[in-house]
Amino acid sequence: MISESLKELLKDDVFAAAPAEEPQRQHYFIEQLKKVFGGSDRRYTAAVVTFGCQMNARDSEKLEGILSEIGFATGADEQDADFVAFNTCTVRENANEHLYGRLGRLKSAKTKNRDMIISVCGCMMQEADEIEKLRSRYSFVDIIFGTHNLYTFPELLFRLLRKRSGSVDAFDDNGIRMLTSSSDDAVRLDRLMRYSGTASGQKDIEKLLRRPVVSVWEGSDRIVEKLPSKRKYPFKQGINIMFGCNNFCSYCIVPYVRGREKSRLPEEIFDEIRAAASEGVKEIMLLGQNVNSYSGGINFAQLLRQIDSLCDETGIERIRFMTSHPKDLSDELIEVMASSKHVCRQFHLPLQSGSDRILKLMNRHYDKERFLERAAALKAAMPDISISTDIIVGFPGETERDFLETLDVLGRVRFDSAFTFIYSRREGTPAAALEDPTEESVIKERFERLLGFQNGIVEENLNALAGKKCGVLFEEISEYDPGLITGKTEQGITVHVPADPGIIGQIRDVVLEENHKFYFTGSLVGKESNATRIGG
Ligand code: SAH
Ligand code: SF4
Ligand code: F3S
Repeated sequence: MISESLKELLKDDVFAAAPAEEPQRQHYFIEQLKKVFGGSDRRYTAAVVTFGCQMNARDSEKLEGILSEIGFATGADEQDADFVAFNTCTVRENANEHLYGRLGRLKSAKTKNRDMIISVCGCMMQEADEIEKLRSRYSFVDIIFGTHNLYTFPELLFRLLRKRSGSVDAFDDNGIRMLTSSSDDAVRLDRLMRYSGTASGQKDIEKLLRRPVVSVWEGSDRIVEKLPSKRKYPFKQGINIMFGCNNFCSYCIVPYVRGREKSRLPEEIFDEIRAAASEGVKEIMLLGQNVNSYSGGINFAQLLRQIDSLCDETGIERIRFMTSHPKDLSDELIEVMASSKHVCRQFHLPLQSGSDRILKLMNRHYDKERFLERAAALKAAMPDISISTDIIVGFPGETERDFLETLDVLGRVRFDSAFTFIYSRREGTPAAALEDPTEESVIKERFERLLGFQNGIVEENLNALAGKKCGVLFEEISEYDPGLITGKTEQGITVHVPADPGIIGQIRDVVLEENHKFYFTGSLVGKESNATRIGG
């Protein structure tokens, strides 16, 4: 990959000429990288592999945006791509195992193609021991960065090319708290240069130049706006309204890897929504770990009201948001939702446990009564609302009695869907220090019992919808049957309908016909949707 013109581009003065301010600095590196990856006869390819939640999915879209701008064709298969990024999650242990499995499978591809660039970023990279593990056991990884400095990716890629061509640059921390970086390699290289005359010295230099470019920040209060991003679906988009989390639920690692809450300014959010609308987006999802504590000068309910009006002006039809912490779900938010035109009648309200004792140990700041009251308030204001939840089974010390309290809440709220997880111990969280005498088999049995109970509720809830007419946003051709097009109702129910792929990206009225337990089949009615609400 290192040609004569590339050598010219990678000279010290090109690197030194980069502006210090952001995002101009990254735009500068994007321009330089375009000359490498955009100016070649063949199209370079990239694969971005995402684990974890909607936040990570949105971050991956930003990475893909940068890669496309530089000249890569994104969406390639990871085994033969020129560039591969793994955007990692660490919320539960199995998320971590997932990464190592995928990396292991990529090793032989990298052996065949030494120019391949492998990058690992995201939540797992905010943990120092995971970075060490990559450095020692997965040394074929080339670039490592974290959640706070995703936007510096163009610079890191440029630094990698420089490193491969023999120049190593230290990181100037600019007052940023660094968790770790590869700055030491600059010092090491200097030292090795003194022995470069010998064969073994030369070998050591080569080895050093294959070490990864690493830059992981401990935290940051910066939000850098206006960098490229690429949408996975042309008609729907996630929009970050805030980053980080201040809640410190005792089991959860997210506040440690995503840092403290930072809200974007309303105007920045509105600009992004206007731009999305002008590109034909029909549905937006406002993203935050706890959107209810949004504080960009106005609160979340006020922000939502303004976004609802903005959607009237811009033609965006649906607004969703996630996640909402039950402790901060205000009456004002319920009123705004109920009177809005575009906010979907869907609410994700994570319960975690129905036991007051466990909720206290989890540091959730609500009890069973309060949760039931909030769910009832949502249903009273919007009888057609669909409520989903998250449940953790097997929190340390959970007894059968605690577990039955959880089942009791499921039976009373009758959630339309529930994401259920077995508790996973995360090093560094307060819950990791709690004793847990419960046998694994007992936890598994509870988990199965919960699934069985909840699946019955989902089926009954869906049965009640058979025959109803509702608006469906069509998203893609069905994975199982190319004659069917798959879409989502306002409530988030998946529907498969025989139709022409031309309806993808449109909202059309559908009659829900047959309940297949977790989805419906149905048929189109009428030409255009007036976005009928279920039951309407
Ligand atoms: N901010 C969101 C959740 C983000 S994590 C919220 O507060 O709802 C998504 C879900 O993962 C959580 O709701 C929880 O149910 C689950 N989870 C988080 N940490 C976990 C752990 N250590 N073990 C098992 N499940 C966990
Ligand atoms: Fe984790 Fe709790 Fe924050 Fe959600 S609110 S991300 S569960 S600490
Ligand atoms: Fe996972 Fe990070 Fe999301 S840990 S759940 S990807 S915020």
